[in-house]
Amino acid sequence: MNLLGTREQSIYGKKSLESIDSALTKLSEDLALEVDIRQSNNEGELVSWIQEARSGYDGIIINPAAYTHTSIAIRDAIAAVGLPTVEVHLSNIHQREPFRQQSHVAGVALGQISGLGPTGYLLALRGLHDHVITTRKGKKGVTAPRRQKTSAR
Ligand code: DQA
Repeated sequence: MNLLGTREQSIYGKKSLESIDSALTKLSEDLALEVDIRQSNNEGELVSWIQEARSGYDGIIINPAAYTHTSIAIRDAIAAVGLPTVEVHLSNIHQREPFRQQSHVAGVALGQISGLGPTGYLLALRGLHDHVITTRKGKKGVTAPRRQKTSAR
């Protein structure tokens, strides 16, 4: 994902990761919430970040890239932390090669957005925000928005 903007532009578009980050940061300011945006090529690091999100974060937005189709470790980490997680893909993985049509993450995700390009991240943030607010209603002792985490694009 760090090569976005240069890698397979006909599939992933011309936008860089930096421009996606800026759009997410801008939307988070509009929604008055905090996002922590990270990228790593390392599966183990992604697993550690997901585990760390247990304290201080309300949810996760993740594009696990090729790990989507291979990583039981990422799936298990998401299941273990129990945070609402939105899976994002720039391309529509369901229209692509058979090996991309299976996601290990989908079964433990709140939802999946696939095929809408960079807009998918923004929709994921709106959707996660709505979910957190809705599920928090009526719970005692929870007040202002806490942090939301987006990671692993
Ligand atoms: C991707 C789809 C994956 O199959 C692929 O390995 C990626 C990007 C997407 O955003 O469309 O690296 O997650």
